Amino acid sequence: MLDRLDIVNFKAFASAAIPLGAFTLLSGLNSAGKSTVLQSLALLRQSQVAGLLDGSAGSGFLLNGELVELGTGRDVLHENHIDTGGEGPQIVLSVVEDGVIQTWTAAYGQENDLLHLDSGTTHRPAGLFGPNFQYLKADRLAPAVSYPRSHEIAVRRGFLGCRGEHAVNFLRHRQDERLASPRLHHPEARSASLLDQTDAWMQEICPGVNLQAATIEGTDLVRLGYRIGVAGLPTALSHRPTNVGFGLSYVLPIVLACLSAVPGSLILLENPEAHLHPRGQTVMATLAAAAVAAGAQLIVESHSDHVLNGLRLAVKRGTLADSAVKLLYFQRQRDGIEVLNPMLGPDGMISDWPSGFFDEWEHSLDQLLG
Ligand SMILES: Nc1ncnc2c1ncn2[C@@H]1O[C@H](COP(=O)(O)OP(=O)(O)OP(=O)(O)O)[C@@H](O)[C@H]1O
Ligand SMILES: [Mg+2]
Repeated sequence: MLDRLDIVNFKAFASAAIPLGAFTLLSGLNSAGKSTVLQSLALLRQSQVAGLLDGSAGSGFLLNGELVELGTGRDVLHENHIDTGGEGPQIVLSVVEDGVIQTWTAAYGQENDLLHLDSGTTHRPAGLFGPNFQYLKADRLAPAVSYPRSHEIAVRRGFLGCRGEHAVNFLRHRQDERLASPRLHHPEARSASLLDQTDAWMQEICPGVNLQAATIEGTDLVRLGYRIGVAGLPTALSHRPTNVGFGLSYVLPIVLACLSAVPGSLILLENPEAHLHPRGQTVMATLAAAAVAAGAQLIVESHSDHVLNGLRLAVKRGTLADSAVKLLYFQRQRDGIEVLNPMLGPDGMISDWPSGFFDEWEHSLDQLLG
């Protein structure tokens, strides 16, 4: 498991040490550096997958690739970069996994989108560079009539795509596979198969929904059908995603990422709450907590107090130990970004609630009552 991420001179941060837990929730105002944390991990992974972190000549940080498109060195070097002792400006990313620190240092190249590696460690963090990695960004694929059918990405690599574009094909291919961990089982599901479990969780998120993923004969595409009825009653006609609304299409990849969690998985989720109604957000957070209980590490950026509350409930119900959770609150200060770490107790209560940390509800209530 990743215990910490250190970032020097990368995008929003001059220097930051980000503590990580089995479930890390990144919160804070817009532009506070939360996505930068996810992007720095994604940058390391995409550079590694391209074979560019082995320290050989020509190795380095690949700024534009499958996971992130960050532009040039000029875009990613922190504008008030600090001196790291190299010949020129450097970007340094380190991860601590199970107590072992691994550091990669790249030289700045103004117009380059491959930043040359000055030094790097050969030890490889298992979750970050391993096969069970998912990274789902905030702007996921809008509902579509059909979805790509890539054997390489969805079937061989089991990757859902950063925008969830391979989720339907992933589900089609693995629908009969049993979930790895009973901790992820939904009590109402017909069986332990991925399709029945996905269906049950989707139904809890949006009561009455039923899923069907199938290939479109003679094409490289797959399609998804939703039957939507009243919960508990036989469902009606199958609708295409474009006629169903954004929420279900947006949450499906999140559900699949969580249900496919195995020990050692690393799952990065950016605003998983997007387009979901409040109760669905809380249920989704409960599922995410179950993925951590099943052995995955999750790092989740969220603006949703329903996600926070889902996590608190999971701790209170005993799905997750309070020690497994890191709540991080990012706030800009004059001299950089401060990362606060409010503590969560075993009863789901938070001590030393920082000002600005999911407290808007209370502010509004004070004004309404005042
Ligand atoms: N090269 C750079 N130097 C300094 N700051 C940068 C650089 N590149 C990006 N930033 C800053 O990073 C911020 C964006 O950070 P990030 O996307 O991580 O925020 P966020 O907390 O995820 O925001 P949101 O809640 O809107 O998703 C912007 O304010 C931008 O000013
Ligand atoms: Mg963000």
